[in-house]
Amino acid sequence: MADQLIIFDTTLRDGEQSPGASMTRDEKLRIARQLERLKVDVIEAGFAASSNGDFEAVQLIANTIKDSTICSLSRANDRDISRAAQALKGANRARIHTFIATSALHMEKKLRMTPDQVFEQARQSVRFARNLVEDIEFSPEDGYRSDMDFLCRILEAVIAEGASTINVPDTVGYAIPELYGSFIKTLRERIPNSDKAIWSVHCHNDLGMAVANSLAGVKIGGARQVECTINGLGERAGNCSLEEIVMAVKTRKDYFGLEMAIDARQILAASRMVSQTTGFVVQPNKAVVGANAFAHASGIHQDGVLKARDTYEIMRAEDVGWSANKIVLGKLSGRNAFKQRLQELGVQMDSEADVNTAFARFKELADRKSDIFDEDILALVSEENVGHDNEQFGFVSLSQHSETGERPHATIVFTAAGHEVTGSSEGNGPVDASLKAIESHVKSGAEMVLYSVNAISGSTESQGEVTVRLQNSGRVVNGVGSDPDIVVASAKAYLSALNKLQSKADRVAAQG
Ligand code: KIV
Ligand code: ZN
Repeated sequence: MADQLIIFDTTLRDGEQSPGASMTRDEKLRIARQLERLKVDVIEAGFAASSNGDFEAVQLIANTIKDSTICSLSRANDRDISRAAQALKGANRARIHTFIATSALHMEKKLRMTPDQVFEQARQSVRFARNLVEDIEFSPEDGYRSDMDFLCRILEAVIAEGASTINVPDTVGYAIPELYGSFIKTLRERIPNSDKAIWSVHCHNDLGMAVANSLAGVKIGGARQVECTINGLGERAGNCSLEEIVMAVKTRKDYFGLEMAIDARQILAASRMVSQTTGFVVQPNKAVVGANAFAHASGIHQDGVLKARDTYEIMRAEDVGWSANKIVLGKLSGRNAFKQRLQELGVQMDSEADVNTAFARFKELADRKSDIFDEDILALVSEENVGHDNEQFGFVSLSQHSETGERPHATIVFTAAGHEVTGSSEGNGPVDASLKAIESHVKSGAEMVLYSVNAISGSTESQGEVTVRLQNSGRVVNGVGSDPDIVVASAKAYLSALNKLQSKADRVAAQG
């Protein structure tokens, strides 16, 4: 029987650490559900001790998701570990992932601890965690830049204390594939009890080699767990991308000889959901999930693919969730067809009332747009666009006027704490005027650090999906809005970002 490769998804923890990618509790749950459908083995749901919000998100995911192991990150101290264990109480299978930095640089400059102190703290923390939860993962942070002898000593000790997964992070993305693979191999060869643990790779993408390094860790080093994120989301240049690692191991099974539990047909839905939720747009030429990943533009390629698919295709688009027929519904489609399409797209509605609300929104859209694509439906039901009763701001209506040679003007009606208000302003363009009209009333003082528009299904007939990133008092939030009218989509995105700025955040850094 082929060896199993464990897929550990950290989109909701390491991915979320990316500035601007922070998610609400409900958004995290929605993504966790999709990760469960994707059949990832382990979902790192957050860092329970970092904030009340993260605690609640880990708890909610632990109580809801039943098929995947749910994991919380935790610094190597009793308080963090107890908090993680508490948040994970409702999980079918729970894992605590505890970490402490082991490189000379991090120990001396960041932790201000001696190697002996770090050794003791790691050992005691794993012992403490092991009394609360059976499944313990330990990570030596900045492991790849740590001294080999010290690393062997500390990892042998934590395995003896009951850590059943040892993860070796290349925290700063410094590794080179062959060297990283050999590094893991040496650790496994030198540590006497290394066979008592599963070895895991965790690579950052600063030099664009996170996937290559992870694959080398598996092939050369013998690692059997890969830590990764959807779309490679993560701080700086991101983490190892789940879709790439999964499809590399699947497509080259002849070379890797490994099995995975993953249902690859759920990859695209996961990619879209993460992109829509965070506002981190997927580049068109991104492997596996980019809009062009399976598009054959050149005549020679098209001719070849028509004659025999495998002349230019090494994977089938439908195997990762691209459907051949993209027009799905229209004005005459009924509630049942809509509900079935939601199910096929992996969208879970909490109640029939939610289906009714989404269906009403679908009808409204279908009145304005003749063909409704999968992307439209996903945008329609995304958290951002649904709106919640408890939100401060909600879009009502907008009118704007722009004409060559004249300064554009917009008037917007929106709700603020349940009351309808009207704002008006001029601006450099209609979008600028509309957002200034909102600000004329809200006066948030937030700075816009990103504004982007994306045509959801690729043509001028499609809906525009707008991402607005706002920064205020050190907080960065994303708002996403979609509508066939991009000025309206912009206003919705802006209001959504303002709503997020309203919610409190009190988190500590995961690598602090
Ligand atoms: O990159 C890293 O070192 C981490 C650890 C906290 C596992 O994310
Ligand atoms: Zn990391």
